[in-house]
Amino acid sequence: MIEVSGLTKRFGTYTAVSDLSLRVEPGRIYGFLGPNGAGKTTTVKMLTGLLRPSAGTARICGFDVASDTLEAKRRLGLVPDEPFVYPKLTGAEFLRLTGDLYEVPYEVQRRRVPELLEMFELTGFGGELLETYSHGMRQKVVLASVILHEPKALILDEPLVGLDPKSARMAKEIFRTMAARGAAIFMCTHVLEIAERICDRIGIILGGRLVAEGTLAELRSRSGPAAQGRSLEEIFLELTGGQEYAALLKNL
Ligand SMILES: Nc1ncnc2c1ncn2[C@@H]1O[C@H](COP(=O)(O)OP(=O)(O)OP(=O)(O)O)[C@@H](O)[C@H]1O
Ligand SMILES: [Mg+2]
Repeated sequence: MIEVSGLTKRFGTYTAVSDLSLRVEPGRIYGFLGPNGAGKTTTVKMLTGLLRPSAGTARICGFDVASDTLEAKRRLGLVPDEPFVYPKLTGAEFLRLTGDLYEVPYEVQRRRVPELLEMFELTGFGGELLETYSHGMRQKVVLASVILHEPKALILDEPLVGLDPKSARMAKEIFRTMAARGAAIFMCTHVLEIAERICDRIGIILGGRLVAEGTLAELRSRSGPAAQGRSLEEIFLELTGGQEYAALLKNL
């Protein structure tokens, strides 16, 4: 469903993503972890046709995102790191616009839009302009819009940032349900507890390179016998050198 091969992005002489290859099968959730500036959002932008790769390919359901962009995008849902909405539309209008763009039948939209607004506790705000929404409310509208068109491949860049605990819990359930219905999900997150709980595979990117990949059990076994029972946080910090923070804290 989501296939990345040799994907590379250079900005001038700086290589933000280097020779990245991975696959996400239907029904699976892939957690993409890495420190700030590691190349996660750059990867998301290449996966969704917002940035052209310097080398390599990204395919969605077999369609090359760079050369067969429209067919790839038809099958793609994106929750970007910043919720992008049109401020002069209402929440309900934004959902219907998304529905129209993805050719969701009118009858389905008429039923689903109020249901989704209710699910995200936005019923009272459906008729309000999006410019009046809080950050979390905008994030919820963007999440509702990807649920509305049920993409085969879902790309999530920090999808839970800014959501209250109840909405975050619901979003996690929704991602699992969408995967159970056959979607392939690629999710960038800093919340390791979420990666641990809902991701089937985990990839860790550092300085643009994939430094570890596998199920949580595989990542543990690769870190040696001492890693059994260790949390993803400990494995992550070991792989990304984050444990040096103790030395840095001395300067506090
Ligand atoms: N348009 C651009 N021009 C130049 N450099 C860029 C551009 N976009 C990203 N970069 C650089 O590429 C690197 C990776 O950035 P990216 O946004 O992919 O990181 P990230 O892993 O998403 O980080 P975060 O966890 O903070 O969201 C950074 O060093 C960034 O400065
Ligand atoms: Mg990012």
